[in-house]
This record gives sequence, structure tokens and C-alpha cells, in this order.
Amino acid sequence: MALNVLVTGGAGFIGSHTTVALQQAGYQVVVLDNLCNSSLAVLQRIEQITGIAPGFVQADIRDQHALEAVFQAHKISAVIHFAGLKAVGESTQKPLDYYDNNVNGSVQLLLAMQQAKIKTFIFSSSATVYGDPQELPITEQHPRSVTNPYGHTKLVVEDILESIYKAETGWRIARLRYFNPVGAHPSALIGESPQGVPNNLMPYVAQVAMGQRSTLQIFGNDYDTPDGTGVRDYIHVMDLAQGHVAALHYCQQQEQDLLTVNLGTGQGYSVLDMVRTFEEVSQAKVDYEIVARRAGDIAACWADTTLAKQKLGWQASKNIKTMCEDAWRWQLAMTP
Ligand code: NAD
Ligand code: UFG
Repeated sequence: MALNVLVTGGAGFIGSHTTVALQQAGYQVVVLDNLCNSSLAVLQRIEQITGIAPGFVQADIRDQHALEAVFQAHKISAVIHFAGLKAVGESTQKPLDYYDNNVNGSVQLLLAMQQAKIKTFIFSSSATVYGDPQELPITEQHPRSVTNPYGHTKLVVEDILESIYKAETGWRIARLRYFNPVGAHPSALIGESPQGVPNNLMPYVAQVAMGQRSTLQIFGNDYDTPDGTGVRDYIHVMDLAQGHVAALHYCQQQEQDLLTVNLGTGQGYSVLDMVRTFEEVSQAKVDYEIVARRAGDIAACWADTTLAKQKLGWQASKNIKTMCEDAWRWQLAMTP
């Protein structure tokens, strides 16, 4: 019998791609999302891709009654928790919104799970918990440090999960630390739809290539990296989605466990690498100017992926060119 999985934030960027991957792996998915950063159309798009409509509940993870009702209506075996706010800059201006959504929201969800006796939980953490890396590649043992409220919410929820794991037997928890998710489903039916000016590099580059924005500002070319621009471990969102399926399989096989694992490719690319590859695949010019460093940015960051291979039997397979091609196809599809 197919296992039912609750995916919070399943209408969002990573959640929607993971819902597709879960359905294609034979799971039945119920999405719970308040649509604060996504739309209902995404659910129809998921159905178009997989031929299966996921269950959908429009609700907030802080709404205990809604959670109780979901757990009563569906026999949920595991929860994959994406719902939350994610803009680093905004988190410094509205810290309470971030602590309420990301920390209180996770606590409410875990309380409802405890009551419903559901003990399999997969959490969206972030490479941001490593702060400014002391060593590259970054292993899961690297000390954690954060400099903004968003990062702090991830760190606190990681710690809450550890406390729960120590306090009660039977929990199967995976804390997945994502590096830089980019790209889109190859069908161009789902992807990332940032509201307003994109904070992240890839959607910004795509909008410049499209002619929607005139110039990319590159935040600094004086870092200690091969070409002076920032280096990151970009990972295709479909690879990331498969990483969640692998983490769920892993959890199902354990009596109990607390797994913390990096999800990245293990390879770093600079801002200029990204611009050049995007120009090549789109055949469009990406004009840029070099400006001052962005406050809080680090020079370079990429993952040690050994543990993910060892524990999950998973590794990313899509290269930077495919990431840019899929992001470009999505950009073209989104533009009227
Ligand atoms: P997203 O904004 O596209 O998706 C989040 C979804 O959660 C949205 O559909 C939103 O409507 C929903 N949501 C937010 N608050 C909610 C609440 N209180 N109740 C119910 N639904 C709520 O973001 P994403 O890029 O898909 O990120 C998913 C998760 O992964 C987040 O927790 C994020 O912090 C984490 N993460 C993202 C990145 C990244 O670069 N995208 C990197 C590391 C970690
Ligand atoms: N960059 C530019 N110009 C832009 C946007 C970005 O030059 O307009 C540069 C940045 O300086 C950085 C690189 O492109 O060198 C990547 O920047 P992103 O904003 O795309 O990604 P970050 O690595 O800064 O942060 C992302 C998420 C965070 C998450 C972190 C680690 O936004 O939420 O990855 O997972 F915490």
C-alpha cells in the first residue's frame, strides 16, 4: 500500500519538485501550504506532470486544529517540512516573523505529530548554518555559526530536533542541509517564482537574459577565489528533490535515527562561471557591473558529499549547464 506523506510548503519551489519526485516514487502526497509565497496553480502543474493530483490543504503550520484535522483525515506516515520564510535580508528587518513562522511553526507541527504518533520527520535546513567556512569542502562536522535571524531559525530547529530525539525513542529524523538550489523541472511547468526583485543569483541572471532587468550587479570581485567573485555549490532542484526521496527511504529503514546530511554537488562555481554558462545556453547577453560586496556574504562554500553517498546512496547528477538550461526554459515559459 502506498505510504502517505505530508509535505508542508509543498506548493513552494523545492516542495513542489519534491512532491513530483515523491509521487513518481510511488508515495501519496498531501500538501499543506498557506500559499504566502506560492499559488494554487502549482498543484495543477504537479498533476499535469505526474498525472496524479496531490491532496491539498490550505492552512498554516501554526494552526493546531488544521494539523489535527489533516492527521485525522489521512493516515500520514512521514512529514517533510519545507514551510517557512527564507529571505535573509528580510529576516533582519522582521525577525519576529521569522522566529514565529520557522521556529514556532516547526514546534506546532512537531506537537501535532507527537499527538498523532507520527515520528518520521525530514527538515529543510541550510548550508547557512556553517557561517563563514573555516575549511572546504564543508563536512557535517563543521562548527555551526550564524549571523542573521533566518540562519538562527534553522540552527534552533536543528537543536529542537536533537532534543526530541534524545527525549523520546522511535524518532526517525533527517536534517538536510541544502547548498544553493537552482533550476526547474525540465517540463518548465514548475520552477522558482520570486516576488519582486530576486535576491538570489540564478533568477536575477535569468531576468537579465530575458531583458526584464538591464544589468546584473555582481557583489564583489575581490574575494579570494579563482576569478574574485563568490563561489557556491549550486544544486539542481530535481537532484535535491531526489535527495528527499532517498532520505525518506533511509528513515523508513531505521528503527530510530537522527541523520544530518549535506545536499550539494561537491563542486563550486563562481558568479562569472554562472553568467557565462547562462549566456551560452540562452544565447542572450547578460550585462553586468561589479559593485561592492553584499553585507554578510562569504567568499566560497561547497559541500563534502561523502556522507550523503554513504548513508543515502544519493548523489547529484545534473551539471551547471543543465541547471542553466532548465532555469532558462522556465524563464521563457513564465514570460507572457
Ligand atoms: P518557498 O518560499 O518557495 O516555499 C515555501 C513554501 O512554504 C511556500 O509555498 C509558502 O507559501 C509556504 N509557507 C511559508 N510559511 C508557511 C506557513 N507558516 N504555513 C504554511 N505554509 C507556509 O521556499 P523554498 O525555496 O522552496 O524553500 C523551502 C525550504 O527550504 C524553506 O524552509 C527554506 O528555508 C529551505 N531552504 C531553502 C533554500 C533556497 O535557497 N531556496 C536553501 C536552504 C534551505
Ligand atoms: N550574487 C550577485 N548578484 C546578485 C545575487 C547574488 O553577485 O544579484 C552573488 C552573491 O554575492 C553570491 C552568489 O551570487 O556570491 C550566490 O548568491 P545567492 O544570493 O544566490 O545565494 P547565497 O549563497 O547568498 O544564499 C543562498 C540562500 C540562503 C542560504 C544559502 C546557503 O539564499 O538562504 O544559499 O544555503 F542560506
